[in-house]
Amino acid sequence: MYYPDELIEEVRMKNDIVEVISGYVRLQKKGANYFGLCPFHNEKSPSFSVSPGKQMYYCFGCGAGGNVYTFIQEYENYTFPEAVKMLADRAGVNLPEIEYSEEAKKAEGKRSRLLEINKEAAKYFYFQLRARQGEVGYSYLRGRQLTDETIKKFGLGFANKTSNDLVQYLRSKGFTPELIHEAGLCNVDEKHGMYDKFWNRVIFPIEDINHRVIGFGGRVMGDGSPKYLNSPETPVFDKSRNLYGLNFARTSRKGNIILCEGYMDVIAMHQAGFDQAVASLGTAFTMGQAGLLKRYTREVLLSYDSDGAGVKAALRAIGILKESGLTGKVINLEPYKDPDEFMKNLGKEAFQERIDHAENSFLFEIRMLEKEFNLSDPEDKTRFHREIARKLCDFSEEVERENYIEAVADKYHIGFENLRKLVGSTAAKTGLARPVERPKSGIQKKVTPEENSRRTQRLLLTWLVEEPQVYPKISRFLSAEDFTEELYVRVAQRLFAGLEKGELNAASIISLFPEEEEQREVASLFNTKLIEPETQSEKEKAFHDILVSVKRISYEYNTSRLGTDVEALNRVIEGKKALEELSKTHISLN
Ligand code: UTP
Ligand code: MN
Repeated sequence: MYYPDELIEEVRMKNDIVEVISGYVRLQKKGANYFGLCPFHNEKSPSFSVSPGKQMYYCFGCGAGGNVYTFIQEYENYTFPEAVKMLADRAGVNLPEIEYSEEAKKAEGKRSRLLEINKEAAKYFYFQLRARQGEVGYSYLRGRQLTDETIKKFGLGFANKTSNDLVQYLRSKGFTPELIHEAGLCNVDEKHGMYDKFWNRVIFPIEDINHRVIGFGGRVMGDGSPKYLNSPETPVFDKSRNLYGLNFARTSRKGNIILCEGYMDVIAMHQAGFDQAVASLGTAFTMGQAGLLKRYTREVLLSYDSDGAGVKAALRAIGILKESGLTGKVINLEPYKDPDEFMKNLGKEAFQERIDHAENSFLFEIRMLEKEFNLSDPEDKTRFHREIARKLCDFSEEVERENYIEAVADKYHIGFENLRKLVGSTAAKTGLARPVERPKSGIQKKVTPEENSRRTQRLLLTWLVEEPQVYPKISRFLSAEDFTEELYVRVAQRLFAGLEKGELNAASIISLFPEEEEQREVASLFNTKLIEPETQSEKEKAFHDILVSVKRISYEYNTSRLGTDVEALNRVIEGKKALEELSKTHISLN
C-alpha cells in the first residue's frame, strides 16, 4: 500500500461518513442510522443506509457498501490513493509524498507526461477551430447542427491542412519527439520525417471518466476515407476500458445508459438532453466496457445503427451485457439510420418514446433470428422453433424461462405447451445452462443451502458489530476459523482481534481490502439485516440460535473435510464440545 496504515486510519477517522456522504446524498435520520436514495442504483424509496456507529454505508437494494473510502472510490470513481488524497485534503491532514518504486515512478511519470501532452494537443486543436484557418471545421460542425455550447462541452477541435504544425507546436513546448510519437500524435517516415497524424480533420478529444484527454478521433469533413482516424492505444488509452461520453454520462442518473456506435451519435444525444449516452471507441463493445458501465447502471439501452452491421454489433453487445449481468434493451431507430439522424428528423420527444418502448433484448434476438427463416415453409418454420427452444434453454431459472416461453409462444403463435415440451426435450439432449454467476450485488442471488449458511454467518458478524458488548460472553465458544468462507475468516480474525481489546474496528477492516468488490462484500458481512425480535428473551433466543447454527455449520464443514485437512479433526472435536456446552448455556444480551 502507498501510505502507512495508521495514516489511512487517521484520515478515515477524521472524515465522518455521515458528513461526507451528506455532500452527495440527501440523508434522513431514522433510529440510529441515516437513510437516503442509493446513488449506485435507481430507486424510488430509500434503501441506502449510513451508520454513524459503524462508520459504514450499505444499500439493502443493490448491496453497495463499504467505508468512507469505498464510497468516494465508487462515487468519484477514484483509485484508492486518489480517495485517500481527497479525504486527507478535506480533513486537513498532510500526506507525505508517496514513495513509489523506481519502476512505478517511471510508469507513473510516463502516464502523466502522456496526459500532459494530450491536454496540450487538445488545447491546440480547440484553438485552431476558432482561428481563421479553422473556419471550415467550425462550419462543418455547425452544419451538422451542433451548437457552440455543445462544441465547447465536448472540446471539439480542428487539425489544420498543413502537415506538421502540431508537431512543431509541441516541440516548441518542450515535448520530446519520442513522447509525441508515443502519444500517437505523429507519423514518421524516411521521406518526410515526423509529421502530424491528424490533418485537415475535425477533432474529437476522447476523455476518461475524470475528464482527462486520453486520445483523439478525427473526422474528414465530408466524404473521404478513412472517415475517422483514431489515436492508437497508448499507456493512457485503453480502448477496451473507456467509453466516449462516460465522463458526463456517469453523473446523469437517468437510471439507464444508452450505448451508441459513434462519437457523433453521443454528441447529438447529449445535445438533445440524453446525457446518459456513450459509445465505444471505434472498436467493438467489450467485457471491460460492460464492467465499467456496471458501476453506474443496471440497464443498458442499445442504440446502434439500424443497418445490417449495426444489428450484428447489437447482437454481439447483447451477449456481452448478458454475461456481465446487465439488462439489455434495444431502441428501434427506424426508419432512420442512427440516433444522430433520428434526432434531427423526429426530435427528442419521439426519441424518449423509443426509449420507453425499447425492446427486450431476448425478443430482439428472436426477431432478428426470424429473418433467417422462411416461415411459410413448414420445415424452415420447425427449424426456427427448434432454434428458439435452444435459446430458451439458456435461462437457468425456471420462472424466467417460463415467462419467456410464454412471451415467445404468444408472439409467434406457437402453442405454449408445445414450445414448453420442445424446450424440455432440447434441454434433455443438450442440458440447461448452468446458472450464471450473478453479480455480487445480492439482488438476484439464489437461496441455496450454501447461501443460507453464509447468511447465518453474516448475521452473527453483523450482530457482533452492532452489539460488541456480547463478544466477551461468547468468545470462548467462537473462533475466526469457524467461518467457512476464506473472506469471512480473514474479516473475523481482524474483528475479533479488535474486540479482544474492546475496540470496534469494522470500518477500518474494509480498508485492508484493495478491491472494491471485496470491500462491498466485507460491508455486507456487517450489514446483514437482523430480525427485530420483540422481547428480550426472544432476542436472546434468536442470538443463541444463530451462534449455535454457526457452530453447527462449522462442525459439519470440518467433518466433511476429515481426511483432507489435518486441522479439521481438532476443530471437529472442539466443535462438538462447544455445541454441547452451548446447548446448556444461557447467553444474556444485557
Ligand atoms: P459511423 O460511420 O456510424 O460514424 O461509425 P458516426 O459516428 O455516425 O459519424 P458520422 O455521423 O458519420 O459523422 C461509428 C463509429 O465507428 C468508428 C468511430 O468511432 C465512429 O464514431 N469509425 C467509423 C472509425 O473508427 N473509423 C471509421 O472510418 C469509421
Ligand atoms: Mn452517424
